[in-house]
Amino acid sequence: MKELSLHILDIMQNSITAGATLVTLELIEDTAADILKFSVTDNGKGMTPEMAKAVIDPFTTGRTTRKVGLGIPLLKLAAENTGGGIELSSEVGVGTVISAVFGYSHIDRQPLGNMAETMLGIFTSHEDIDFVYKHRHNDKEYSVDTRELKKILGGVPFTQPEVTLWLSDFLKENEQELYA
Ligand SMILES: Nc1ncnc2c1ncn2[C@@H]1O[C@H](COP(=O)(O)OP(=O)(O)OP(=O)(O)O)[C@@H](O)[C@H]1O
Ligand SMILES: [Mg+2]
Repeated sequence: MKELSLHILDIMQNSITAGATLVTLELIEDTAADILKFSVTDNGKGMTPEMAKAVIDPFTTGRTTRKVGLGIPLLKLAAENTGGGIELSSEVGVGTVISAVFGYSHIDRQPLGNMAETMLGIFTSHEDIDFVYKHRHNDKEYSVDTRELKKILGGVPFTQPEVTLWLSDFLKENEQELYA
């Protein structure tokens, strides 16, 4: 994958497939510590320890009747290529947390990609699910909670063109502000 935002999208997609009603993405860029890290926390159906092990290393875990997914192994590879790695903790019936750490200035670290577009896409295509998104770049930070947005909008959907446009501008401006 060319951009980290695509990995993030894939991991959040997993949460949605797992039946989560709340998905939290925390993204931190800390240039002093030379680290980029993100975590995705969900309240989906979770995984058994055996399953969690199998999804991280699908090729060393032996024969499986399920298809082999590549989202998590590719994220692991991308993170390890920069001196980082991933952590997964999950509990059946409770939820899952997946976090990934990347070497910020490592030559093989993929660019982050467009987070405003990525989050807009997720928010507008899964309006029945709630999302919390926090993005920090050094000492600047902002967060969005779709539960709060929905309260303000009072039933007007994110897919309503004026709302989509407003949300798009809101995300873009906040992302830009992090690097100003
Ligand atoms: N957040 C999650 N909650 C519950 N199960 C999960 C979660 N994330 C992953 N899984 C399980 O791990 C499997 C592997 O995930 P992975 O993203 O590696 O591949 P995939 O989603 O199956 O396929 P793809 O290659 O399209 O991503 C999933 O099919 C699912 O069974
Ligand atoms: Mg996946």
